Amino acid sequence: MSKPIFILNGPNLNLLGTREPEIYGHTSLADLKAMCEARAAKRGHELFFEQSNSEEQIIDWVHEAINGADGLIINPAAFTHTSVAILDALMNVTCPIIELHISNPHKREPFRHHSYTTFAAQGLIAGLGVNGYIHAVDAIADMLAAD
Ligand code: DQA
Repeated sequence: MSKPIFILNGPNLNLLGTREPEIYGHTSLADLKAMCEARAAKRGHELFFEQSNSEEQIIDWVHEAINGADGLIINPAAFTHTSVAILDALMNVTCPIIELHISNPHKREPFRHHSYTTFAAQGLIAGLGVNGYIHAVDAIADMLAAD
């Protein structure tokens, strides 16, 4: 039986649409969720799409993904650059993981150049704006179709 694709979003992404729009664009998190759900439905997948400002909550969702997800797309936001704990959680996930960033952290401040979490990811999408999420859904769907 197929399981949902998890899309997990880290801190401050609840402010999408109004947060530094020159960097993150004008699409709200609710609109992004609707875009992702439409794309996933087209590819025959259900989504579990969530956002939290809490590291603990994100870790708990990653734990749920261990047995509960067919694929995991994660934008850890600022936790990308700080969280060994999220990396440790991700290391237990056996389904495909894509790390995603709306902006390109490598074109930004030096403290954004290091990611703890990429070590656990199959792939990385960055700098494509919120459309990166659609590419990530397609990439996971393609990987699952190839299985
Ligand atoms: C981000 C990039 C991170 O450096 C930043 O802390 C974010 C968002 C992105 O999607 O571009 O909150 O992950």
